[in-house]
Amino acid sequence: MTITTQSLISIGHRGAKGHGPENTLLGIERALALGTTHIEIDVFLVDGELVVFHDDRLERTTNGTGYLWDQSFTDLRSLDAGSGEKIPTLAEVGTLINWRAGLNIELKGPGTAAPVAAFIDDLLNSGWPLHSILVSSFDHRQLVELKRLNSQIRIGALTASLPVDNARFAETLGAFSVHPSLEFIDWAFVTDAHARGLKVYVYTVDHPEDIARMHALGVDGVFSNFPDRVTNQYPPTGRSILWE
Ligand code: G3P
Ligand code: MG
Repeated sequence: MTITTQSLISIGHRGAKGHGPENTLLGIERALALGTTHIEIDVFLVDGELVVFHDDRLERTTNGTGYLWDQSFTDLRSLDAGSGEKIPTLAEVGTLINWRAGLNIELKGPGTAAPVAAFIDDLLNSGWPLHSILVSSFDHRQLVELKRLNSQIRIGALTASLPVDNARFAETLGAFSVHPSLEFIDWAFVTDAHARGLKVYVYTVDHPEDIARMHALGVDGVFSNFPDRVTNQYPPTGRSILWE
C-alpha cells in the first residue's frame, strides 16, 4: 500500500452497483477486480445481525416481500439478492475486502452505531488501518453515538439538502467529511466545507459530464455505481485505500 494523494477518489457505490447486484459479495468482488480503492455499503441491524442492505423493504432487490426488520436472520439469508447472491453480513464483507479497499459503512438502519463500533474494533485488531474506515449516515444522531463510543473513528455526514450554513453541521458533528448529493452541490458548499477542513465526497456520480463537473468543483471523491469510469476519466497518481 503506497500512500499517495489522488485527485478524485472513486468510491464504489453499494459495492459497484453498475457491475453487479448492489450490496452483495459478488458486487464487491467486481469492484475489487476493477481496482476500486474505496467501497461504500449500507447496513441494517436485523435479528441481532448486521446485514448489508439498502432498503427498508425487500421487494426491489430480492425475491422476498415485506419489511426487512420483520424477518428472521435465517429467512433473510434464504433470499436471492440478485444473481443468486445472499444478503451478506457486514462481517462477510470485512473478510472479503480484507483491507484491499477502504470501507465506508453507511449506517442505514436504526440501532447500528453500537454494533458497528464493535465491528470496527475487530477490524482494527485484525490490522485494518484506522483511516481506511469511514462511517457515514443521514442519521446524524447515530454518528454522534458512534463518536461517543470511539472518538477515533472517522465519520462522514450525509445530506440530501443544501443547508443555509453550508457544511457547518458536519463540522459541529466532528466529521472528517461531508457527503452531499449531486443534486444540491455547488461551489459555495465545497468552498465552505474545505475552509472547515472537511473532505467532500459526492453521491451518486455516474455520468461522465457529472464526473467532470465534480472534478472541476474540486471535490475530493465521488460515489459511483461505475467506479471504473471515474478512474478512467481521472487516473489516480497512486494507490491508497485510506480516506484522504
Ligand atoms: O453514501 C452515499 C450514498 O450511498 C447515500 O445514498 O441512498 O445510496 O445510500 P444511498
Ligand atoms: Mg449508501
